[in-house]
Amino acid sequence: MIKLDTTSARSFLKDGHLEEARKASEQSLHALLTKTGAGPEWLGWLDIMKNPNDALLSEVSDLAAAIRKDADVFIICGIGGSYLGAKAVIDALGSFFPGKLPEIIYAGHQMSARYLNELVAYLGEKKPDGSAKSVYLNVISKSGTTTETAMAFRILRDWMQSSYGADSKKRIICTTSESGGALNKIIEANGYKKFVLPDNIGGRFSVLSPVGLLPIAVAGFDVQSLYYGAVAEYERILKTPNDRLEYTGMRYALYKSGFKVDVIASFEPELKSFGGWMQQLMGESEGKNHKGLYPAVHAYSTDLHSLGQMVQDGERNLIETFLVVEKPTSDAKLPSDPDNYDGLNYLAGKSIHEINTKAYLGTRSAHHDGGVPVMSIHIDSISEESIGALIFFFEIANRVYVYNLGENPFDQPGVEDYKKAMFRLLGKE
Ligand code: PA5
Repeated sequence: MIKLDTTSARSFLKDGHLEEARKASEQSLHALLTKTGAGPEWLGWLDIMKNPNDALLSEVSDLAAAIRKDADVFIICGIGGSYLGAKAVIDALGSFFPGKLPEIIYAGHQMSARYLNELVAYLGEKKPDGSAKSVYLNVISKSGTTTETAMAFRILRDWMQSSYGADSKKRIICTTSESGGALNKIIEANGYKKFVLPDNIGGRFSVLSPVGLLPIAVAGFDVQSLYYGAVAEYERILKTPNDRLEYTGMRYALYKSGFKVDVIASFEPELKSFGGWMQQLMGESEGKNHKGLYPAVHAYSTDLHSLGQMVQDGERNLIETFLVVEKPTSDAKLPSDPDNYDGLNYLAGKSIHEINTKAYLGTRSAHHDGGVPVMSIHIDSISEESIGALIFFFEIANRVYVYNLGENPFDQPGVEDYKKAMFRLLGKE
């Protein structure tokens, strides 16, 4: 269950501002749910909450189980919304030192010859018993034409074909739109297995479609629970929207009061990639017509030793949003040391989570006192259900906020500009 705490942000708002922003959020939520706002043709991510496709969830889980039995390596080849959601969930739920098979590797999310050369060399290395690695490749591209992904796919497909011959066909899975795009031509020509990302779901809203679900299931997580965690949050928003609108209203009122940057921070390092997913969701949806809060992701306490100074004492244009986990996935007690040279015996017997919580509370109070409005979003623990709920919470909150700004959250015209300039330089027709 998600709980919101806005007490350390309220004092930064003038009387009436929050009330006004809440009202705007109410109207925006209504426009979203009744499909009367901007981009009604892009609301498939809401439709799939109303009508869960259990057959698809089973198909994804069954294929993932078969891959898990055979694969040493599973490559997720995609960029932006085509991989950030899967990475967010896999990093949140998985181990820091997985060691278990299949190993999950990302590709197609950058243009680095070195990365691809080293990846291909790594895939070709024999296992300790002298046998070849069993590699599966999931290429994910809604448009089917994204340069970074298409280039990596071409190189990896070549490697798969030369390593496995005809068998490569069953090792390559493609996720793309129903029709059109270069990837669909490749699928038709080669007979690869295909999952469809419906046209009415944009890339950054696609984590709960096969785009995110297949990689997450192959990594060993329960996609049914993830999905239904999101559905439960959807139902909560319909029943009791007020506390949800409080977050959106607060964020909007703070933006209107002159704050420019939203620092998304957590004291749980496994949520850093979740911040990366939020960063795209917020950045691409709200950065339009010179508006929007710039989303910055901080992993604490690590970044307190690099960016903490800036947050505490730099330009006063930041708000901070903490993702707080009440019950840690695992905990440990600090042992006592008879020598106590490090002076840590005052903490002996305390759990690391207890100390980390004090670090969070101390940071929150110091940043608030230093002029940073702080909001906290709490989940009980990190699980498939809670991460699913958080995904939907931020998907809907961001859409509502962007409607408040008077913008369309579903396009990203600015991203096209770098592509046009790059293609001009590369001489693309
Ligand atoms: O949110 C979006 O639509 C984008 O971030 C896309 O996900 C990203 O550009 C990748 O596009 P595609 O899936 O078409 O390769």
